[in-house]
Amino acid sequence: MSGVDGKVVAITGASSGIGAATAIELADRGAAVVLGARRGERLASLVERIRGTGGRAEMLEVDVTRREDLAELVGLAVDRFGRLDVLVSNAGIASLAPVADLEVDAWDAMIDVNVRGVLYGIAAAMPVFRAQERGHFVTTVSTSGLKIVPTQAVYAGTKNAVRTVLEALRQESTDGVVRTTAISPGYVRTELVDNVADPDQREAARQAMAELGIDPEAVARAVAFAIEQPEDVEIGELVIRPARQG
Ligand SMILES: NC(=O)c1ccc[n+]([C@@H]2O[C@H](COP(=O)([O-])OP(=O)(O)OC[C@H]3O[C@@H](n4cnc5c(N)ncnc54)[C@H](OP(=O)(O)O)[C@@H]3O)[C@@H](O)[C@H]2O)c1
Repeated sequence: MSGVDGKVVAITGASSGIGAATAIELADRGAAVVLGARRGERLASLVERIRGTGGRAEMLEVDVTRREDLAELVGLAVDRFGRLDVLVSNAGIASLAPVADLEVDAWDAMIDVNVRGVLYGIAAAMPVFRAQERGHFVTTVSTSGLKIVPTQAVYAGTKNAVRTVLEALRQESTDGVVRTTAISPGYVRTELVDNVADPDQREAARQAMAELGIDPEAVARAVAFAIEQPEDVEIGELVIRPARQG
């Protein structure tokens, strides 16, 4: 099955930014989408919007740091739509600070969401993909892992940990059952930096996003491109930056 139409896609971090844009893009192209995040009200209004235009959508309040939540999200897709074709592991958080600031709690939180959350998604979807003999892991990493800069050490580290896991999984999956795609956005205008603790870092990041950032729809189109390929084509890595980002 190629194209997006008719595919069943679960998306984590679907309540805002890239995840929400991806949900709308894929639903517009005929996918059934199963949306997960913690903010249920946001998800509910997105589901309403998608259904209002004739699309198929379900939602579940999910905290990706809880393994059982990912299992429930995958289970919801299978219950409602009969299978799961793609898991878009997109939930993520960012904390920006020099390592010497020792924001240890923020390090833990990024590791829990950005690394454990993705691994729990793989653990939940893999048995379904194996049973179906088909499945696709699309995961949002970051250009932070490609161009290493100060204040993003741990964030970039979490993203590169995931990039490494996906590359190994790709090499382990040459039977063609499981495909992997790592999507690396540059600056995208979203809520990602709104919770950065240090006010100066937060303001600088917000300004960079406002000046340089591209719309989340640009990343959503890249996700759709990876998903719409024929079964024998795997888009391993995609980098989507603002044209003016250095
Ligand atoms: N914006 C950028 O410039 C940029 C660049 C490169 C990579 N990225 C990556 O893109 C992805 C999406 O981020 P975004 O930019 O769209 O920012 P965003 O608007 O803040 O979206 C982040 C999403 O992750 C969800 N999330 C956070 N913690 C979660 C948890 N514990 N359980 C479940 N969901 C959780 C949030 O939903 P709830 O709060 O409702 O749970 C939200 O839907 C992230 O992985 C981020 O690292 C962003």
